[in-house]
Parts: sequence; C-alpha cells; structure tokens
Amino acid sequence: MTSSASEAPSPQDHVLIFDTTLRDGEQSPGATMTHAEKLEIAALLDEMGVDIIEAGFPIASEGDFLAVSEIAKNAKNAVICGLSRANFADIDRCWEAVRHAKRPRIHTFIGTSPLHRDITALDQDGMVSRIHDTVTHARNLCDNVQWSPMDATRTERDFLCRVVETAIKAGATTINIPDTVGYTYPRESADLIAMLRERVPGADEVIFATHCHNDLGMATANALAAVEAGARQIECTINGLGERAGNTALEEVVMALKVRNDILPYRTRIDTTKIMGISRMVAAVSGFPVQYNKAVVGKNAFAHESGIHQDGMLKNKETFEIMRPEDVGLAATNLVMGKHSGRAALRAKLSELGYELGDNQLKDVFVRFKALADRKKEVYDDDLIALMAEASMADEDAYLQIRRLRVICGTDGPQEAELTMSIGGEEKFTDATGDGPVDATFNAIKMLFAHDAQLDLYQVHAVTEGTDAQATVSVRLNLDGVIYSGQSSDTDTVVASAKAYVNALNRLVLHQHRGNLSALMSSAG
Ligand code: KIV
Ligand code: ZN
Repeated sequence: MTSSASEAPSPQDHVLIFDTTLRDGEQSPGATMTHAEKLEIAALLDEMGVDIIEAGFPIASEGDFLAVSEIAKNAKNAVICGLSRANFADIDRCWEAVRHAKRPRIHTFIGTSPLHRDITALDQDGMVSRIHDTVTHARNLCDNVQWSPMDATRTERDFLCRVVETAIKAGATTINIPDTVGYTYPRESADLIAMLRERVPGADEVIFATHCHNDLGMATANALAAVEAGARQIECTINGLGERAGNTALEEVVMALKVRNDILPYRTRIDTTKIMGISRMVAAVSGFPVQYNKAVVGKNAFAHESGIHQDGMLKNKETFEIMRPEDVGLAATNLVMGKHSGRAALRAKLSELGYELGDNQLKDVFVRFKALADRKKEVYDDDLIALMAEASMADEDAYLQIRRLRVICGTDGPQEAELTMSIGGEEKFTDATGDGPVDATFNAIKMLFAHDAQLDLYQVHAVTEGTDAQATVSVRLNLDGVIYSGQSSDTDTVVASAKAYVNALNRLVLHQHRGNLSALMSSAG
C-alpha cells in the first residue's frame, strides 16, 4: 500500500478540477498527441493549478504507459491519475505507471447501464461482485481510488445506488458520475447527485465527481448543476476536447465559477491567466482549431466590431464585457514585432499572449522568430501564435521529417517537386510531378512513404493579411475510418502543406503502435 495521502473530502466551497485532456480528450478521432506534446501539456496543467490530471490509459499501449509514467515522475503538485477497466491486469498496469507520482490515483470504471451490462455479459449480481473485487484490488495498491459507473445517467437508479455503495465499501475515495453519451439535462444532473448523496450509505465519506459529454451542448450546464447538488470535482478538458462532441470545457466551468461566484459560491485553484496559452497549445497539438465564437477562448470571445458595441466599450468596458481579457491571459496590445525586436521584447510579447517561456525555450523560439521576421516585415500577434504552435509541434525524434523541398512551377506543364525526407533516420530522395505544386509535393511524400490513407481534408487559411502572410494548413487523413490530423504554418504555402501532411503521417505512424482506444473503452469490463 502506498504512503501517499488520499485527499480529504473537498471543503464545501472548493471544487476540484480534474483535467482529462490527455485521456478523454486524446480519444477524439484524430487528436493523437506525441509523447513530448503530452509532457508539455501536463506541465502546463500542473502549473495552472489543475488538481488532478488524468494522464492516459496505461494498458492501451506502451506509448500511453510511458507517457503516464513520465508525467507522474514530473508532476509537482497535481494528483496524477491513470484509467483502467475493471480487471486486475488493467489496474496493475495503471498502478505501475502512476506509482511514480507524489500523489498517484487509480481510476477504474465499468459500464453499468443495461446496454453495457449486455456487452460485458454480466448480470447485476455479477457486476456488483466485479466492482467489489476490482476496487478492493485497486485500493490495496493505492489509497486514492476513483471509481466510475460508465453511462451512469442511463443506469437504473436503484442499481446505480447499489453499485456506488459497493464501490464506496470496497474503498473508492472518489465516485465519478459520467454522462457518457451527453444525454442528461441540468436539473436531472443535479437530481442524480442529490439522490446518490441522500440514499447511498457512506456517501459523506467520498467526493462526488461529474463527467459530462457535450452531445446536446449541455456539458457545462450539467457539470455546474451537479456542483450545486454537491459534486465537488468537475471532469473537463481544455477547449472541450473529447470523444464525439467533447467533454465539459475547463475554461467554461472555471470562468463561470469565477464570474458568477454570486450564485455559484465555489472556488477552484486555477490560475485563469494561463487559460489562453494552454488553449492554443492544445489546439495546435491536437489539430482541432478552436471555433471563432467559442466561449472564453474563441478568437471573437472578446472582439467588439459593431459600432454600438465599440462605442459602449469605449465609454465603459463593462457594457459588453463580463470578464476581462487579461483574466484569461489575453492582453490587448497593438505592438507589432519586426526583425529588430530583441529577445526581451519577444519574451514580454509572448507573455502578454499567455506564453511563459523558460530560457532554453525562448532561445529556440527566438531563432524561429528571427527567421520569420526575415521573411515578413511585420510580425503580428497571430503570427506569433502560429509560430508558437509550430514550435510546440516540432519533434526532433519524429519518424518522418522533411529535409529539403524544391518546387518547380510554370504555366505550361505539370509542376514538379524534389523532396528529401528522413524516414526512421534514413535520408531518401525523390521527385514527382502533380497538378499544381501541392499535389506534386504530396505525390513525392507518398512515393517516399507509401500508405493507404485517404486525404479527407486539405485547408489553407491566411494567418494575417498581405502577400507575405503566413499560411496555416490543416490536413486530415483517413485510414480505415481513423482520422489523423496535421497542421503547420509557414510564409510558403507549399512548405506549410508538406509539413502539415507529414505531421498527420507521423500521428498515423504513432497510432499504429497503439491499441484502438475506443475499442478498449467499449469493451470495458
Ligand atoms: O465518458 C465516460 O464514461 C468516461 C469514463 C471512462 C469515465 O470517460
Ligand atoms: Zn468520457
């Protein structure tokens, strides 16, 4: 048994923030992240004050296991949690990964609704005994154990009370109530937590958590309703990333608790000024851009364009602003950077944009900034955001890397691409033609790295205005129904396209070494 202290039930006015961007978020089709990206996101989550980080699903693959172990070793304050199905092998593997943390947690789950009981071929008694055995096993390894009845909102109420009671008696310290398919409604979400707290013996000894999916757009409302009814842990992800329509968005619940503290008198430990920085980082590495009008972190969340709004804002910001941009790490500045801007100016500017860099990181980003400023007279905020995304995705160990690309274009004939790539450490060269420079480049990549993935999406958008603007290219590949996305920015659209394509292929390669997470989840039991 570990010596790490389990958390005392959260004080009544404190809500724990459990972030599952690296587990549920990473399960979004196409959102596979590299090892280095996971470590960086975990460090940012820890720094911003997330109480519990669900770092992955250790049994899913060697890669998941290593990521969870390393995140556990590096964590400074956060509890590090791993997911496991309801069997001893999963739980043992999870413990092996999280045990390195100062504060480890095992999270184990089983689908309890009639549909899930059919899948696992367990009747009610069989399921109760499985829960008893697996939670007891987890608790013998770790004194901080979270248990979840998957699809709780579609589980018969009496049976739900019975399984929750079993998990508590077996030693679970947190009981998480998932709305796995995003089916519940705020009043129902509150009633469910209230009912469990009232009916289940031992309920006062544990923390109740809420885990909502956003299929009907009610995840944030459902999570907050659960808090009003006594839940003291919200499970959420940055940008609301997650399976299908995603999970409750961390930035939404945290800012709602802050802005509407008059009616939701609860505190979190989150440093909200870190929100924008981590939101951009997650958007970049997951390949899921944030929608422009997304609450809190969308590009337009603090933009005021109409005349009436601008007039009101000039007279009194509170006319149309319920939170200040700086509260979420967004500083309004018009300072344009250029090739004469120094390192200190770059650091200050990036800090205003929500990125706090260490000296080594700044060194690397400064080199990239200088290269960009050489090609582009004026470097705007959006250029720097794209540059930071590019820097965070740079992976020196990536399987596929572009070494050199030369494209020959003309009005009279097929375009030609000459490409040198490193593939698993070996340099290879080819040339190819195509219907346009991007087509020629993609053909060359495919000649060097043959694969069967289909190109589902190729999208270009200008980061700023002007003919020297950077282009951000998004690519989505589909292999047997599994999506792999890649993104890249450059002042040269063809280079950005090549890098985005290779980025998506690297994620495909990475995924081939892992199990299919969704399949693992649906066989939970
Ligand atoms: O949505 C869900 O039910 C889950 C569980 C594993 C907690 O993600
Ligand atoms: Zn989930």
